[in-house]
Amino acid sequence: MNKSSKIFVAGHTGLIGSAIIRKLRLMGYARIITRTHKSLDLKDRKRTESFFSKEQPEYVILAAAKVGSIQANDTYPAEFIFENLTIQNNVIDLSWKYRVKKLLYLGSSCAYPKKCSQPMKEESLLTGSLEPTNEPYAIAKLAGIKMCQAYHRQYGAKFISVIPANVYGINDHFDENAHVLPTLIKRFHQACLKKSKSVVLWGTGKPKREFFYVDDLADACLFLLKKYNEPEVINVGVGQETSISQLAQKIRKISGYRGELVYDTSRPDGNPRRLLNSSKVSALGWKA
Ligand SMILES: NC(=O)c1ccc[n+]([C@@H]2O[C@H](COP(=O)([O-])OP(=O)(O)OC[C@H]3O[C@@H](n4cnc5c(N)ncnc54)[C@H](OP(=O)(O)O)[C@@H]3O)[C@@H](O)[C@H]2O)c1
Repeated sequence: MNKSSKIFVAGHTGLIGSAIIRKLRLMGYARIITRTHKSLDLKDRKRTESFFSKEQPEYVILAAAKVGSIQANDTYPAEFIFENLTIQNNVIDLSWKYRVKKLLYLGSSCAYPKKCSQPMKEESLLTGSLEPTNEPYAIAKLAGIKMCQAYHRQYGAKFISVIPANVYGINDHFDENAHVLPTLIKRFHQACLKKSKSVVLWGTGKPKREFFYVDDLADACLFLLKKYNEPEVINVGVGQETSISQLAQKIRKISGYRGELVYDTSRPDGNPRRLLNSSKVSALGWKA
């Protein structure tokens, strides 16, 4: 990949896609191709094929997906599996058909089994049952990884899959699709404004997560686009975990909120731990 390579960043308005664009621009890549969801629905095979045929991208970063909270996954499982499978089927297959030199697919740590030994190693994928709340999404993510591997094996396509830890940062979602970190920021902020007596958190607060700043992930993705060509998935994280209650206390302190913190244990916790073993990417020479 060089500074004049034509690079399609699918999902460039999202949390990860926008960070990749920032990084590419910072590094002097001049031929970045983007399409908004509105202007090109990647579920539409015909229109997506016209786009590939016209633009002939050399590199593809697939950061377009339907992503959401535990609640959103639980409420719209059909949309999570259908939309993700369709987007990735189209983009991966068309990347092969239009001879894309390299594609980077973003997997998810939800693809690891619920009871995976921690920290989670790449070889643990498909060794046990998934967390039920987001199983349809996780199945779609696994299918994307397998599809990259199949195209690698059958056609020699350089399609790589990256599994990032829980990402946060600029362009995060604060709506009903929000992940835990922006949800907590919003709840404490609103509680401060409204002078609420309590802030309610979903679950027990005990689950632990590895929070990963999105610009570090963008850096890792560009590093891997240059250095990594293997079909095996590769984890990317920071190697540190924080419990939801620790995170809540931290945000509460920063926000200045003085009310009560209530844990609604009738709500699901999701996976108890999600720490990635990122020794493979470290051995290649990348660190956050
Ligand atoms: N966020 C995390 O913590 C995390 C962790 C691990 C892996 N990942 C993976 O990283 C990828 C990107 O996640 P993200 O957090 O950046 O998600 P995001 O912020 O929701 O961004 C998704 C992007 O995809 C676009 N998009 C959705 N459906 C589309 C369609 N049918 N056609 C065209 N564009 C479409 C969205 O556009 P609109 O907003 O206009 O719909 C948006 O630009 C996903 O594959 C996700 O599984 C994320």
